[in-house]
Amino acid sequence: MADNAAVLREWYRVHSRDLPWRKTKDPYKVWISEVILQQTRVIQGTPYYHRFLKTFPDVKSLASATVEKVLGVWEGLGYYRRALHLHEAARQVVEQHGGKFPVHYKDLIRLKGIGDYTAAAIASLCGGEAVPAIDGNVRRFLCRLYQLSLNPASASDNQYLKKIAVGFLQHHDPGTLNQALIEFGALQCTPGLPDCQMCPFQAECLACQNGVVELLPVRPGRIKPKTRYFTYILYVWRENGIPFVLIRQRATKDIWAKMYDFPLIESTEGFTSAEYGTKPDSGIPEPEPATVRQWMSETYIHQLTHQRIEARFLMKQLSAAPALVPQGCFKINLMEFRGLAKPRLISRFLDNAGWDLR
Ligand code: ADE
Repeated sequence: MADNAAVLREWYRVHSRDLPWRKTKDPYKVWISEVILQQTRVIQGTPYYHRFLKTFPDVKSLASATVEKVLGVWEGLGYYRRALHLHEAARQVVEQHGGKFPVHYKDLIRLKGIGDYTAAAIASLCGGEAVPAIDGNVRRFLCRLYQLSLNPASASDNQYLKKIAVGFLQHHDPGTLNQALIEFGALQCTPGLPDCQMCPFQAECLACQNGVVELLPVRPGRIKPKTRYFTYILYVWRENGIPFVLIRQRATKDIWAKMYDFPLIESTEGFTSAEYGTKPDSGIPEPEPATVRQWMSETYIHQLTHQRIEARFLMKQLSAAPALVPQGCFKINLMEFRGLAKPRLISRFLDNAGWDLR
């Protein structure tokens, strides 16, 4: 198997652009370049880079400038919050690092406005740290090379991508390899239809071999949201004429963490009629005293970014409070439940079902 990192380094030696921020290891200058390049393309960003450094040649001059002056130099780039963050981070560097711009990822990531990508770029370019700097360019190249349909919104998918990128950095100068990864995505492995005939990875690239280059990387909009089917079991009874229900607090590791809803039977396959009764394996026992009446609500749809919830509510009216409460559940008067944090879906249901629950 080809040494992909060596191939990339050679490609970079031949094809890399002569860009001003590549001639320095000054973390302040590299930082300014990276923030400008998050905002605009290389051609438009280069004059801004020169102008910014002419006005603020070092971190101390930036820290002591007025906000108005910083915003003035930034004018035309847009997204002014970035300029405010630059100013604030410069002050942090002066106050917390004596004006010496840090080069370690762990220090950089604490500065205002510096995220994972920028911290990794500065740490590798200026500090030689082997941390992967994954921007859209790098992501596109790696997802195609290894034919990965990773979800950009998934933390575990992003960790996986980082592991792959770290593999590239090993045995090489990490700063140069990170630059090479970025440059390769920017110039060769471009969005849309890249020129794969000219690509040094043509034989290695799984997306190219399998004809799926255009489909990768997967963009958030292209990920089909999964559907989860929730059948809430809603036990309702009265105490002194006041309606009570059984509720539970949701787990931390799922949607609606720590909010309150009702005992639930969940499926990814769709609703089944079995849920009209209580399933022995659902963990939701039929309570004592027995249900005197039960009815099913209409279906409520709730769209989240990466999943769609279809929920319905099986109401079970009891003649009195359940003798045994399923684990994790507790009894509450419906009015009090109204005051607890709950998913919007549940509030919608309660608003609609008002008469049924009274
Ligand atoms: N885009 C983001 N960072 C870059 C860099 N260092 N060189 C070229 N393009 C970039």
